[in-house]
Amino acid sequence: MLKGRNLIQPNDLTVSEIDEICTLAEQIIVDPVSFQDVCRGKILATLFFEPSTRTRLSFEAAMLHLGGMVEGFSDAANSSTSKGESLADTIRTVSSYVDLIAMRNPKEGAALLASKFSSCPVINAGDGGHYHPTQTLTDLVTIRALKGNFEGLTIGFCGDLKFGRTVHSLAEAMSRYANVKFVFVSPEELKIPDWVAKFLDKANISYTFANKMEDVIQDLDILYMTRVQKERFFNEQDYLRLKDTYILNRQKLTLARKDMIILHPLPRVNEISPEVDDDPRAAYFKQVKYGMYARMALISKILGVL
Ligand code: CP
Repeated sequence: MLKGRNLIQPNDLTVSEIDEICTLAEQIIVDPVSFQDVCRGKILATLFFEPSTRTRLSFEAAMLHLGGMVEGFSDAANSSTSKGESLADTIRTVSSYVDLIAMRNPKEGAALLASKFSSCPVINAGDGGHYHPTQTLTDLVTIRALKGNFEGLTIGFCGDLKFGRTVHSLAEAMSRYANVKFVFVSPEELKIPDWVAKFLDKANISYTFANKMEDVIQDLDILYMTRVQKERFFNEQDYLRLKDTYILNRQKLTLARKDMIILHPLPRVNEISPEVDDDPRAAYFKQVKYGMYARMALISKILGVL
């Protein structure tokens, strides 16, 4: 039962709950009209202390498509945080007005902290370089829709794997399926953090590292590209040195399988050349749409209306 629960990290959901959410998302995709009133009278607050396009707007679109209402802020400067209010007090206040909170915050652990002070469920919409569980649901709905299942897949993660919360979250979630393999492609400075490697070791997952995309792309079922995130660097020189390490273009794609799919949580900067967008393997804009359906399914389950 997901009703009334928080979603702070991907493995707060069991494999069978992920299955339920994917199945519900697929039902919504086929017949959205049947779901257009299920959240009537319910309010979602979107509290975004960090910029967002997809996550915030897809949460809001999801709630509106379910017949519910939305309030919130997209910039903490427009909230009383700018006057020094604590996160705990903001959450205590907002949760007394609404049925559900989706929050993005630059501090790792902020969503967990918020859940301790909230009188309604809290969904983590990204906490610093830590986790982004609803992007994971988006990725899983997309993978199931395009690949049929999760077992036996080889996933290559490429780019900023140190700060990339979507990578940490998807790797953790996928580690629970049989015979999944990971290939981590990054510069030395942007390798997956130790805590992710330790988690994978404990789960007995097979993973390898590479420096060059061209060395491994032919082995992949899924290539998960990520942006080098300027906002996570302390030193601009390091960002400038690393930002264009990997650029996926048509030429590199000639090495990949015909049925490989390319995912990216977006936004992208230079890491996928626009010439790739027309390739049938480019699935990142489908992924954007699946994200709204994944969030419709999640909201319905947490609010207990389906
Ligand atoms: N994927 C993602 O989180 O995008 P936004 O930062 O635009 O929400």
